Amino acid sequence: MGEAIINYVQENKLHDYQDILESAGNIIKNGGTVIFPTETVYGLGANALDPRAAKRIYKAKGRPSDNPLIVHISDYEMLDQVAKDISPEARILMDKYWPGPLTLIFYKKDTIPAETTGGLETVAVRMPSSPIALNIIRWAEVPIAAPSANISGKPSITSGKYAIEEMNERVDMILIDEDSQIGIESTVVDMTTSIPMVLRPGSISQKDILRTLSSSEEDYEKLLEKYEDIIFFGSTNESEPKSPGMKYTHYSPNAKLILLNPEEIVLHLSQMEQDCININNEYPCTDMDKLRVLTTDQNMDKYGAYAVSLGANEEAIGKNLFKTLRDLDEQGVELIFCENFAQGDESEFLKAVMNRIKKAASNIEY
Ligand code: TXA
Ligand code: MG
Repeated sequence: MGEAIINYVQENKLHDYQDILESAGNIIKNGGTVIFPTETVYGLGANALDPRAAKRIYKAKGRPSDNPLIVHISDYEMLDQVAKDISPEARILMDKYWPGPLTLIFYKKDTIPAETTGGLETVAVRMPSSPIALNIIRWAEVPIAAPSANISGKPSITSGKYAIEEMNERVDMILIDEDSQIGIESTVVDMTTSIPMVLRPGSISQKDILRTLSSSEEDYEKLLEKYEDIIFFGSTNESEPKSPGMKYTHYSPNAKLILLNPEEIVLHLSQMEQDCININNEYPCTDMDKLRVLTTDQNMDKYGAYAVSLGANEEAIGKNLFKTLRDLDEQGVELIFCENFAQGDESEFLKAVMNRIKKAASNIEY
């Protein structure tokens, strides 16, 4: 495959870019692949109804073919085209959170080929809020299957620069706008179970969802209790993960990422400086210049020249995480100590961000 056509677009000036968006839609309509921005992360899209187009996505990403794709829609007609048995609860969630960073899993209709769902009888559907994403779907006139645009196993792509660097020779077109607003992927909720199950946390939390489905505070407390039983059960049954994506390596930069508390980081840094790098080879790194500490504005001072800040608040941490991991790889960093931002009183959003960091970290099983 040759190089992709690269185009810059701006979501706040959509009508100036209709020609480009139309040509992106046409590529998808004709079975090709387009990388486009969404509010969560960049997606790698193709016609969700075309098995050969879906296969191109797996090939471009190097993704295992049993890991299903999210189908992006621009209206409720498209929902009816791809999904069936849509419950009243699902309607409530869609009313509240669509368009937006929420993916719902339904039983699929026959229009959706097995290639798109990794052979599953269910389909994940999301109506994104990004005006560019919605516009491309409208021009394509078909639902668009779009996983995150990264090579499988790498951090998701949240900026145009890395979409081009990583995927230029792997897709037909790349559309670039500003960095993704949210920076972590959508919340994935299974609507085929008796109580909706969060399979992947995101900026819309499990508590947001249960609260939206509750008629009263009492009802909410009850749901929360019931839900926790189910989650506990679900997590003990890891041999058969409900979301196939959960069993694969994720978000890994080339550098080794170690998740630690601030005191541990300070201790390791001083030990490593004294011992000329090697503490029992526990965290190998050939040169202290190739070590960085991921932290916040507030904690930068603790780590001197090693500190790299993700920002001053949790929104910034979420927005900058994947991009910063890629920046550090580009700088040849070998070892990253990442601060454990969760200190017990973290918000639901920070928990979702920590979920990504834990999966990227090599010192913990997650
Ligand atoms: O924010 C997002 O969701 C981004 C943007 C581009 O929309 N997309 C994204 O797609 O993150 P992807 O493919 O990287 O992650 C989709 C996740 C995977 O963990 C996959 O296993 C799960 O959703 N999934 C998809 N279809 C499923 C299904 N039918 N049942 C269970 N899990 C499913
Ligand atoms: Mg992904």
